Amino acid sequence: MTGNLIVANIGELATPRGFAANTGIQMSHLDRIKAAGIAIEDGQIVYCGTEAESEFQARLKLAKVAGTQVLDAKAKACVPGFIDCHTHFIYAGSREDEFFWRARGLPYMEIHKRGGGILRTVESTRNASSDELFSLGKTRLASMLAQGITTVEAKSGYGLDLDTEVKQLETIDALRFATPIDIVPTYLGPHAIPPEFAEDSDRYIDFIIQDVLPFIKARKLAAFADIFCEKGIFDIGQSRHYLQAAERLGFGLKIHADEIEHMGGAGLAAELGAISADHLLKASQEDLAAMGQAGVVAVCLPLTAFTLREPYAPARAMIDSGLAVALASDFNPGSCYSQSIPLIFALAVLYMGLSLEEALTALTLNGAASLGLADSTGSLEKGKAGDLLLLDAPSCDYLAYNVGMNLVSTVVKNGVIVREN
Ligand code: NIG
Ligand code: FE
Repeated sequence: MTGNLIVANIGELATPRGFAANTGIQMSHLDRIKAAGIAIEDGQIVYCGTEAESEFQARLKLAKVAGTQVLDAKAKACVPGFIDCHTHFIYAGSREDEFFWRARGLPYMEIHKRGGGILRTVESTRNASSDELFSLGKTRLASMLAQGITTVEAKSGYGLDLDTEVKQLETIDALRFATPIDIVPTYLGPHAIPPEFAEDSDRYIDFIIQDVLPFIKARKLAAFADIFCEKGIFDIGQSRHYLQAAERLGFGLKIHADEIEHMGGAGLAAELGAISADHLLKASQEDLAAMGQAGVVAVCLPLTAFTLREPYAPARAMIDSGLAVALASDFNPGSCYSQSIPLIFALAVLYMGLSLEEALTALTLNGAASLGLADSTGSLEKGKAGDLLLLDAPSCDYLAYNVGMNLVSTVVKNGVIVREN
């Protein structure tokens, strides 16, 4: 659904600019415009700038005559809709016991080795009906919308077998009609080694390449292919083999890289020209530099580092060395049972050394770039989708300053008011 809308009386409009990822120093170059206005036609921004400008005044006058909806922002701050470019929100069951085991010192991978972790969620997701997954997904999307997420990426990876992976991806597809949020589907079959292939992970990768990837491609069920490249899960050779096969079929490439241990996944992302490499807690400087050269977006997931009590990914150093950094939630039932965008802002600024400007760019334009959508959303400027938020705050600085609080009061998607808090 698209709409016509004028947003008038914006106290401060804050947005990155551009139709591709902002890298390095560019990430701090936000437009911050006082007394701003935005005009949206057929879902697309046709004007974004100061309110006093004659073009805006003319559009406002015309809107009043034509009966176009005018939203009075009442001097609130306005930012682009948030892009959560890395989530695992389609699953059944929960793992709260593991949270407390980890709190008492049991490592994430140790729980996995003992048969807990991802494989537990695989079991509950295999046992869930499509209707159950749909209804769980719908509830989670509602909470995303309330926090101002207008585009979200959703990974499979809790089925591992063909039927359940397809059930997850078909649920994602069905949910697109039940929410105003744009959902970008990613196939993550190589998320863990399923019990059926426990003795032979190479054979599982071969099965995926021969039977699953072509099926998903033919049904257009996923835009990206992702893999958990981690010690004890899939190694670099298997990751390369899988990602190259996915690329040949036309999938965009993503990789869970260097999350728990250094594996060289970031370097592999650079070698293969992946659209993003995600996590990167243990990535080497050399591999990060190669990512910069290859134009791979570095997706950092601070809520996961926080929950696992691991050191944060070196996002400050990444930006200083010229990389494009995106931030996302990684929402999942294990390593990060949190959808909190406000907490991401706080952690990015307080513990990762990002400025508010950089954090906002990371959660909007660069998130869009990591999904191949920077030409259509992620910033407020002419030609982009009318995806924007009004905040219960006079400036965008409050996004971090008001620690952990949801300040979103109004969500506009494609020029339509889709949520008021
Ligand atoms: O991104 N690391 C792999 N996948 C998820 C965790 C999934 C889970 O624990 O269920 C992550 O952290
Ligand atoms: Fe993840």
